Amino acid sequence: MADPKRKVIIDQIIDQNKDLPGNTMVVLNELQSQIGFISEPMQHYVATRFHIPVSVIHGVVTFYSFFTTTPRGRHTVKFCLGTACYVGGIPQLIEKAKQLLSIEPGQTTPDGAITIELCRCVGACSQAPVLMVDDEIIGHVRPNKLPQIFKPLQEEAKETA
Ligand code: FES
Repeated sequence: MADPKRKVIIDQIIDQNKDLPGNTMVVLNELQSQIGFISEPMQHYVATRFHIPVSVIHGVVTFYSFFTTTPRGRHTVKFCLGTACYVGGIPQLIEKAKQLLSIEPGQTTPDGAITIELCRCVGACSQAPVLMVDDEIIGHVRPNKLPQIFKPLQEEAKETA
């Protein structure tokens, strides 16, 4: 692994949790929380330390949307793909977001301000179509409202850059 500081953190996490039941899941959760992502080299390293195929680690990381393989942006905007939101216009919102930010779902803007993701029903179907900006649900969103939602998030990133 290229970053020696990161390797120390990963070794600590593995050593602290290696004897627990479900240890690989615990370790991956800790890596995501403490480092913010689980890159391919990190997945290889964890697999080597646990003497298991990297495909097992990779399978877990790609199955759960909580895990990411690259750093997330300062803010995460999730687009609900549940039925009510889908019918209510989420596909158009996703297209507009892709245009406005020049990124695809799962990617982060180059300024590190916003990551866009897709998610399952968040339980606010009566407000469809729904976005989640970090932990806040925003309902009845129309494509022309997206610039107003993104702008403060991008401005904040500029101010703290
Ligand atoms: S379908 Fe989107 S909140 Fe339920």
